[in-house]
Amino acid sequence: MKVAVRYYTKTGNTKRLAESIGNAVGVEALPISTPITEPVDILFLGNSYYAFSIDPEVRDFVKGLDKNKVGKIVNFGSAAMLNSTYKKVKAVADKVGIPMDEREFHCKGEFKGIHKGKPDESDMKAAAEFAKKIVGD
Ligand SMILES: Cc1cc2nc3c(=O)[nH]c(=O)nc-3n(C[C@H](O)[C@H](O)[C@H](O)COP(=O)(O)O)c2cc1C
Repeated sequence: MKVAVRYYTKTGNTKRLAESIGNAVGVEALPISTPITEPVDILFLGNSYYAFSIDPEVRDFVKGLDKNKVGKIVNFGSAAMLNSTYKKVKAVADKVGIPMDEREFHCKGEFKGIHKGKPDESDMKAAAEFAKKIVGD
């Protein structure tokens, strides 16, 4: 099973989750500026809400994925108020023809003093457990 972890972050929260997931599944978590060059069965993709949407860089990254190189996308991330970017990412993935796993990891993320310290240690642990379960399937 080949696995990759990519993330987009503005304030570091998604990077921390991505590193926890990367450690759990034994691959380096890299920013989305690092393209997927080798085929992978699972791409863990970390992203968040910014002004009610995903960042255009995340959209472009997914748009640029090769469906012959990515078996499926597993979404993960955090947000301050909204629940999940799943639908936004899936809308782009559908266009490219890459399936999204129905399961995802989502938790609260600190933003301007709200949810201070989130994702915290327990979120990091939960993200790692989530990733191990996905890869173990
Ligand atoms: C510029 C900006 C805009 C944001 N807009 C939203 C938003 O519309 N809805 C929401 O739930 N969270 C919003 N947030 C909160 C982020 O989704 C949250 O802090 C997340 O953990 C950030 O992840 P990051 O540190 O990896 O960038 C915003 C954060 C920033 C920095």
